[in-house]
Amino acid sequence: MKSLQQADRMFHRRVALIARMTLPVLALLVCSVLAEDATPALDPAAWGSDHVGKSVPEFVSGDQCLFCHRKDIGPAWPQNRHGLTVRVASRNSDAERSLNEDDELREYANAVEYLLGTGNHQRFLKHGNEYGHLDLLSVKWSQSRNSKSGILTDKKSPNWNPTRFGEACAGCHATAVDVSTEQFTATSLDCFVCHGDPPDSHTENASMVHLSPARETPAREVMSICGQCHLRGGRSKSSGNPYANNFVAGDNLFRDFQVNLSEQSIRQRGPADGHVFANVREVVLLGVEKMTCLTCHSVHQQSTEQHKTLNDTNLCWQCHEKDDPKSLIKSVDHHSPTCEY
Ligand code: HEC
Ligand code: HEC
Ligand code: HEC
Ligand code: HEC
Ligand code: HEC
Ligand code: HEC
Repeated sequence: MKSLQQADRMFHRRVALIARMTLPVLALLVCSVLAEDATPALDPAAWGSDHVGKSVPEFVSGDQCLFCHRKDIGPAWPQNRHGLTVRVASRNSDAERSLNEDDELREYANAVEYLLGTGNHQRFLKHGNEYGHLDLLSVKWSQSRNSKSGILTDKKSPNWNPTRFGEACAGCHATAVDVSTEQFTATSLDCFVCHGDPPDSHTENASMVHLSPARETPAREVMSICGQCHLRGGRSKSSGNPYANNFVAGDNLFRDFQVNLSEQSIRQRGPADGHVFANVREVVLLGVEKMTCLTCHSVHQQSTEQHKTLNDTNLCWQCHEKDDPKSLIKSVDHHSPTCEY
């Protein structure tokens, strides 16, 4: 009996010792972003290259692309939310009107040149003192069920912030940002953000363009291209900004952009960001490549019709309940600390 108890105590002490020695290592592992759950994880940074520290590439502007692509892409592009994310302000928009109708904010309304955001949340911008910079107004506008013109928030001490857009927003709402100056090359999102800079000879060989249907772009490349903006909550290692540093289509985003793709991080997000994170996790951590954003989204048609014809996979349960008919959808909670709404 006695020796058994002793052995038992010894055993416990040894376990305690081993635990004390390995706990810090375990804790480190748990903290080190991705390895949170015990699934065998790939190293997302293991392939490809990036443009960190290189100069921002010159690229053909969307107007030039549309000169040739006016029949296939031209008709729908003016309504595409990517192209519209920053647009010239119009006096008739609900957001501008509510700013104009507020006695204390009218002087700010007169200065507004651009609107940011095409959905239920919008912000106001004007030209900065420097080329390639925009000033962001602290006041925010949101659609409201109760008032037709929407509601303004953060109205106390309104001010134009000259640095906020450049350091916190530009990488995902403008095109080709030089992080050393936080200057962008084009307001709003141009073809370059998704297609890169196609060579002239792509007219002969369509598969030379990233995301061309003729190319069969590998799943991990799609994840990097769309993920550069849709993985909200990540951070560039080199710049510290909440957006990717000089990402060019074809690069591996995850060499410099750090983002928490653990199951826990996904659970904390609503379906809108959650399904994006879950899809990226499948591809870049688990090596499951059967689905990308493009399996469900048609970017130029702005349609998800094709998703209704798919077989069930785990991704479906981000938005539908397993045991419910598909006509039921989990409510989408539209919040994003990155975008300040
Ligand atoms: C001089 C005319 C011209 C210009 C400028 C041009 N393209 Fe093209 N592009 C073509 C032609 C021709 C093709 C091959 C025919 C096709 O499939 O549409 C093509 C093919 C493509 C494809 C693949 C189409 C497919 O069906 O697989 C993409 C994507 C594309 N271009 C994007 C762009 C982008 C982005 C720009 C601007 C950076 C651009 N193109 C500029 C003429 C042009
Ligand atoms: C450079 C940043 C950027 C990239 C790259 C990007 N997006 Fe977006 N996307 C945005 C922004 C910003 C919005 C919201 C625009 C707004 O409402 O102001 C958006 C909106 C959307 C929407 C909702 C609107 C709609 O069209 O139905 C979908 C879906 C979407 N993106 C899918 C994609 C996919 C798929 C890719 C990759 C092929 C991609 N995006 C690449 C920034 C980006
Ligand atoms: C990492 C990329 C990223 C950064 C950084 C970023 N955004 Fe966004 N933003 C997005 C994407 C992606 C969407 C579209 C999300 C969707 O529709 O689900 C979006 C949407 C928006 C919208 C429209 C929301 C709606 O549905 O009505 C506003 C407004 C916005 N962002 C403001 C900002 C502001 C202000 C900043 C800087 C403080 C900022 N964003 C920084 C990626 C980003
Ligand atoms: C947000 C990412 C994104 C942006 C921005 C974007 N594209 Fe595309 N483009 C795609 C994707 C993804 C495809 C593949 C087909 C699809 O899913 O719609 C595509 C397909 C194409 C095609 C092939 C024809 C087709 O309809 O499939 C052409 C041509 C093209 N894009 C040109 C352009 C031009 C020109 C611009 C700028 C005016 C542009 N794209 C901006 C993502 C983008
Ligand atoms: C299994 C299909 C599927 C996949 C894969 C998928 N999506 Fe979606 N996504 C949808 C559907 C369906 C919606 C809802 C559209 C609606 O509300 O009508 C949606 C909505 C969105 C929205 C708008 C969210 C909102 O309401 O503001 C964005 C942005 C988006 N997806 C981006 C992406 C990106 C980026 C990827 C790839 C990393 C991706 N999606 C992968 C099916 C998918
Ligand atoms: C990002 C959220 C999202 C994801 C992920 C998603 N769905 Fe959906 N789904 C929706 C929304 C929103 C609708 C309703 C939109 C509409 O009718 O256009 C819908 C509608 C449907 C419908 C039509 C239901 C009806 O009766 O009208 C089917 C079928 C469907 N989804 C299947 C799937 C399957 C299968 C998957 C997984 C492969 C999936 N969905 C993943 C959001 C999502």
